[in-house]
Amino acid sequence: MRHSNSQGKSPAFLQGVLLAIVIAIGAVVLYAQKTEIVTVQPRPTSPASGAEMFTAYCAVCHGKDAKGNGPATPALKVEPPNLTMLSKQNKGKFPEMSIYSMINGDSTVTAHGTREMPIWGQVFRDMGRDEAQAKLRVRNLTKYIESLQAK
Ligand code: HEC
Repeated sequence: MRHSNSQGKSPAFLQGVLLAIVIAIGAVVLYAQKTEIVTVQPRPTSPASGAEMFTAYCAVCHGKDAKGNGPATPALKVEPPNLTMLSKQNKGKFPEMSIYSMINGDSTVTAHGTREMPIWGQVFRDMGRDEAQAKLRVRNLTKYIESLQAK
């Protein structure tokens, strides 16, 4: 009897945990948006500036220098990776396609398992401009990250 009771409880308990995680990610995304508002220009970032977008949308998790340890890190299950080591980890070649897909949130990448990072392609499309501008944002963020690679 006691055994079957505790089994009955566990799905509800798990649901509680999942809900808490979803809320935590929501809070981080809100924080990222707030950071965007308090940057020098009180308007949406320029899709032409990878650096500006990175500071506004990514530094909260990946850190201003892209090496990890942004202020939101304690709220995450997975530590945001150091984005300056991507070439070193890939035999000296920047893995441009996979980084673009990772930022964009393509299903081929998310299918590998947990994803704590927002689907930026969707976020950028939701910012109300055309598809081409959303792509430009992802492309310029990819280029910016490439420019940060450790030699
Ligand atoms: C909510 C925190 C958070 C924010 C905000 C965030 N990331 Fe991430 N990012 C992560 C985490 C955590 C991972 C590790 C994979 C995972 O669990 O999603 C990751 C992984 C990545 C990767 C893959 C690195 C690799 O080793 O392949 C790239 C590239 C990346 N992020 C770029 C960005 C860019 C660009 C932005 C801003 C547009 C951004 N991230 C914003 C948390 C975040």
